[in-house]
Amino acid sequence: MLRYWTAGESHGKTLLAMVDGFPAGLPINTELIDVELRRRQGGYGRGGRQRIETDRVEVLTGIWKGQSLGSPIALQVVNRDYKLERLDDLDRPRPGHGDLTGAIKFLGPIRNILERASARETAVRVAAGALARQLLEHFGIQTLGYVVELGGVDVSAPAGPLAKQKEQRDKSEIYSLAPARDAEIKTLIDDTRKAGDTLGGVVEVRVEGLPFGLGTHTQWDLKLDGRIAQAVMAVQAIKGVEIGLGFEAARRVGSQVHDPIVYDAAQIDQPHLGYTRPTNNAGGLEAGMTNGQPLIVRAAKKPISTLAQPLGSVNLKTKTSDAAAYERSDVCAVSAASVIVENVVAFEVAAALVEKFGNDSITEMEARWRVFHELARKR
Ligand SMILES: Cc1cc2nc3c(=O)[nH]c(=O)nc-3n(C[C@H](O)[C@H](O)[C@H](O)COP(=O)(O)O)c2cc1C
Repeated sequence: MLRYWTAGESHGKTLLAMVDGFPAGLPINTELIDVELRRRQGGYGRGGRQRIETDRVEVLTGIWKGQSLGSPIALQVVNRDYKLERLDDLDRPRPGHGDLTGAIKFLGPIRNILERASARETAVRVAAGALARQLLEHFGIQTLGYVVELGGVDVSAPAGPLAKQKEQRDKSEIYSLAPARDAEIKTLIDDTRKAGDTLGGVVEVRVEGLPFGLGTHTQWDLKLDGRIAQAVMAVQAIKGVEIGLGFEAARRVGSQVHDPIVYDAAQIDQPHLGYTRPTNNAGGLEAGMTNGQPLIVRAAKKPISTLAQPLGSVNLKTKTSDAAAYERSDVCAVSAASVIVENVVAFEVAAALVEKFGNDSITEMEARWRVFHELARKR
């Protein structure tokens, strides 16, 4: 089983991810992890924290001479903005955060809650995902995450070749596939900042080159759609997850939803084994298993909760009404969310990959991948 946990507080000394069940023998490039960490810190609309932090991953265990050992891999991202010991508690909980509920549940300070609830922790979720992506890429599986809607404005683009669309995304300060729309979106973010308000949006992840049969229909908690939804929903501020057509599927008749099956023997060497689909409304998953088509996941991110023009709250000491506390904050982190969602989806796909093909060593995985495809082509 490939899995991970994280530890660390927003303004604590460090953030840690422990990745367990990673196969032995894969060359690991930590610079590729740093690229994702830098992307997570970027995107137009971020606050002052990102100017302080310059995230870099340190591998503490599990990699030797540039290759995975097959033992647990501990990843660290040190907080430059370490100041937890000097920080005071908040007395006016911020709506949209776990401040009030956490202080009551744990019968303690708000600071205890916000330090761990903060999305700063996603730095190491991204690090774990960026590690897992190297396993996917070894098997020719590619992922791409991007923004498709921001502040209610559609910035989506028709699907095209993944590598070309990655170039487009990397030109965009919003991380959309339509960099020509950046100026319009940046103005929207600037105007919202001036008004003391915040913005949300929708991000999409596409995964291509998937084999048949990652995940399984046999048990509810092993279905890959469910596992992806859990991983994505567990990202701070994500309030909705769709696979393929998602909610739109509920509004159409069946013939406008399900993807006809066509066989083309000339494409037998493709991951889809020649079973092509003129549409991909299922988003690459049927009955909790990958069906050889690209995986399409969308996530809705709510606007940042901490407002420069704070909403009403209550002082927990005096019980009198007062404006919510303000802590340094982003105005819009939808671009960053696209990086986080891309990497947490990648991790779940990698976990399903090792379940199908084993996780002792890359050599064994390669052999099992080959045998499975030989057998499947004859099915
Ligand atoms: C990349 C990213 C950055 C975020 N930055 C902030 C921020 O600066 N200020 C803030 O109030 N919330 C921020 N959030 C959202 C909060 O972490 C989140 O809303 C809060 O922990 C409550 O959790 P929930 O929204 O999942 O219920 C951010 C979320 C993400 C994904």
